[in-house]
Order: sequence, then C-alpha cells, then structure tokens
Amino acid sequence: MPAAGLGTRLRPLTSGVLPKEMLPVGRRLALERIVDELAASGIRRIVFVISPAKEDTIRRHFGERGADGVTFAYALQSEMRGLGDAVLRAEELAGAGPFVVALGDAVFEEPAPGGLTLRLVDAFSAQNASVGLAVQRVPRERIGRYGVVRPAPGGGAGGPFLAITDIVEKPAPEDAPSDLAAAARYVVAPGIWDCLRRTRPGKDGEIQLTDALRTMLSEGGRGVAVPLGPGEVRHDIGGLDSYFRAFAAFALRDEEHGAGLGQWLRARLNHSDSDEEKSSA
Ligand code: G1P
Repeated sequence: MPAAGLGTRLRPLTSGVLPKEMLPVGRRLALERIVDELAASGIRRIVFVISPAKEDTIRRHFGERGADGVTFAYALQSEMRGLGDAVLRAEELAGAGPFVVALGDAVFEEPAPGGLTLRLVDAFSAQNASVGLAVQRVPRERIGRYGVVRPAPGGGAGGPFLAITDIVEKPAPEDAPSDLAAAARYVVAPGIWDCLRRTRPGKDGEIQLTDALRTMLSEGGRGVAVPLGPGEVRHDIGGLDSYFRAFAAFALRDEEHGAGLGQWLRARLNHSDSDEEKSSA
C-alpha cells in the first residue's frame, strides 16, 4: 500500500505532522478503511510504503499486527520519485507471488466490503493475467488526470471484466485510448519488479507504475480491467473537495450518527439563513 506522498493538494493540513492517509473519513482513518477493505478481500499481509516523515504516525499506529490475523510491514521511500518507485521499495517485503497494489489515498464505498479487490484478484487468476486493475468511467474532460486503458477489440466489455492491451498515464483527452480510468487498485505478477527497474521517469518526471504495467503488456503479459460495480464509489482523499465528500459520504452511513447528521444537513441546507438551534429544533 503506497502511502508516502507529500499531500501537496491538502496543504497546509498535511504540512505538519498529519499524513493525508491518517485523516478521518467518518469514524475510521483513511488507512484503516483500506486495511479493512483488503482484509475483507482475504489479504493477510500488508506492506505499507511510507516516507521517513510518516514513520512516527503510520508505523506507531498500526504496529506489526492488526485484526483478523493481518500483519503489517513497512518499506521506506526516502525520495519522492513517483508511484512506480514507491511500489519498487516494497520488493524485498512483498514475497514471491502476485500482489495487490492499493493506493493509500483512495477509499472505496462498497456494498460488499472488499468486493472490488476480490473480483480483481479472481479475474486476474482466471485469466492468467500479469496485470489487473480496477477501472471507472470518467468524462473526457477529466480523463487526463488518470491512467487510461485500451480495451482489446471484443475483449468482454459489459461483462465482469474486460481484456486490455495498453495503459497510458495521464494522456491528453484527445489521445486517451478510452474513457476507462485506472481506479487505485491493481494486481500484478512478480514480473513487474523487473519492469519497474527498467522504467525511466515519465509523466511529471516521476517513475510511473503505469509505465511499468505498459511494458508488461507490450511484452506479452495479459491485462484485465474490472469496472467498478453498482454502489462502488472511489473517494480520492488527496484533495480538499473530494476529501470533504468522502468524509460526508461515510459520516452519513455511520450506524450511530448517520441518520442524525442527514437530518441536520437537510435542515441546514433548507434554512441556511437561520441559526443552528432553530434549524435543529
Ligand atoms: C495515480 C496513477 C493513475 C491513476 C490514479 C487514480 O495517479 O498514477 O494512473 O489513475 O492514481 O488511481 P495520481 O492520482 O497519484 O496522480
């Protein structure tokens, strides 16, 4: 789980001691929600890739052991050289087989906890793939913020997964190979390590995971993409607007306080000019 980024879009919130991944999203921290998601999908060993500045908070909070027999290990990324480089820092700790990459700044609302990652792992195994990733449709005007996949002709679009032949990091909208954007969850075969080592800085001068995946696909690896299902929502907690929405979405679903918050919000929005006592009365 890469969680080393600087949180630049959330400054000044994240310029002191608080990593963005440790922000609360409702009653759980963002990273706790991702750990819960992965544990629900059957994952039992999680390697966090963190910056030295985050060791104090993230490592002290999670320690070596979580619930459900989940164990934690930590790899350090000392220089911010990109997502691909962050993943490569975990090589020694990741074991010999395929592994999931779950970006630490993306939290999912899911009707079935862990369901997306589970479908991804299942499709990856069933298709004997080297690259698997969750994808979501994004309007053309925003597609350039994402890694974008090229579906294989007749590759199962509309089914539970589709075959893909390429992926491009943050293309210009007119060059985007589709409107299907990489959505923060991946499964990769161990061949990725070699591809990552061969990856030179790409978009924004960073070593991109997308470029290493692209190499795997171009060298004959099979790729599968699993679209987000009904009710599955990706929340990016790395920007203030989307973080606010993530907090609101989870707070509104809170078993104890969600209904009350919903009532308060409705009243507040209907009577934005009256004071709080009146609107909650
Ligand atoms: C990263 C990936 C990108 C992906 C996005 C959302 O970009 O590089 O391919 O689509 O996460 O999962 P970032 O948001 O870190 O710029």
